[in-house]
Amino acid sequence: METYQVNQNGYYGEFGGAYIPEILHRCVEELRINYRKVIDDPNFQQEFHQLLKDYVGRPSPLYLAKRLSELYGCKIYLKREDLNHTGAHKINNAIGQILLAKRMGKSRIIAETGAGQHGVATATVCALMNLECVVYMGKTDVERQHANVQKMEMLGARVVPVTSGNMTLKDATNEAIRDWCCHPADTYYVIGSTVGPHPYPDMVARLQSVISQEIKQQLLEKEGRDYPDYLMACVGGGSNAAGTIYHYLDDLRVKIVLAEAGGLGITTGKSAATIHLGRKGVIHGSKTLVIQNEDGQIEEPYSISAGLDYPGIGPMHANLAKTRRAQILAINDDEALEAAFLLTRLEGIIPALESAHALGALPKMKFKPDDVVVLTVSGRGDKDMDTYIKYKNQH
Ligand SMILES: Cc1ncc(COP(=O)(O)O)c(C=O)c1O
Repeated sequence: METYQVNQNGYYGEFGGAYIPEILHRCVEELRINYRKVIDDPNFQQEFHQLLKDYVGRPSPLYLAKRLSELYGCKIYLKREDLNHTGAHKINNAIGQILLAKRMGKSRIIAETGAGQHGVATATVCALMNLECVVYMGKTDVERQHANVQKMEMLGARVVPVTSGNMTLKDATNEAIRDWCCHPADTYYVIGSTVGPHPYPDMVARLQSVISQEIKQQLLEKEGRDYPDYLMACVGGGSNAAGTIYHYLDDLRVKIVLAEAGGLGITTGKSAATIHLGRKGVIHGSKTLVIQNEDGQIEEPYSISAGLDYPGIGPMHANLAKTRRAQILAINDDEALEAAFLLTRLEGIIPALESAHALGALPKMKFKPDDVVVLTVSGRGDKDMDTYIKYKNQH
């Protein structure tokens, strides 16, 4: 049977691998050799799951959204990652990787962040575990997600604004990699999504897989079967989507729908819809789809949502798209904004702008009345209030 899981060399079909500068070879090898040993160790699992329960507040609820269901004529459950401590799914991965870093004897933690949720999650866990923390963030994102910058600083992290490129997630990642090259011995780089060289995409997917592990149990209790007809999630690099689909990847009864950021529209030149627009290339150490020009130069992406504003995509998702295991929809800024207001009015939940892209895919679907849909609300909208208020004032 075809499998959509990673293979031994870190590839999902033709995507993945580790394309890294010589200076990082030892760090990435050290990680590759250790990550499964550590993560699969019962002591690690015990500490990880205890923290997920008592510190993060897991399991996150699987909430039957009645009014949303009525509107779209099916049964829609929301997986409420927005209710986690720090407000998004990113904390699941941050806890896991920082526990791993400690076991590998690393004393300094670095991270990149776009929307700031991964930065806040990393700074939070570093405060908890008394570790030095440096977060790289594009200057554009520092400005549009300033509440999260203030949180990171209060938590004791140093936030470094990055002024190269269009000053967003790609540029922050470049800078974090540069830092890692300068401090390979004592520093651990916590990547916030299913991107980067092997083993990061697989490691982040495993740490986020608690989401689909819980969905299985919760659906069994609520529906008497442990699988839905549809799983829906937004994709930036792909971590909340990977967590949502992890335990269903090879279960073909379950349809997978992923929403990427269309920006102003995929034909406008102002988009971050990597799967629609990208070609095979290498970005941040991984062979995947990349938005690039004819000469192979990476193009600047655009999305209103800082967390989806990235010209690459996780290799797992590139493969799911290539093999047509997943349906990929590009959701534009205004469709996501509309969907955010709709969820707020119908269910009293203000979603993160990233999650609003998954919600924006709902009107494009054709559901049957007895379809069971699980859609992951990856984060809450507190950080996006300025954008929401501005949009409201204009409409
Ligand atoms: C709330 C939220 N959802 C989704 C994302 C996108 O990341 P990923 O595709 O890794 O889930 C981000 C990234 O910052 C985020 O903050």
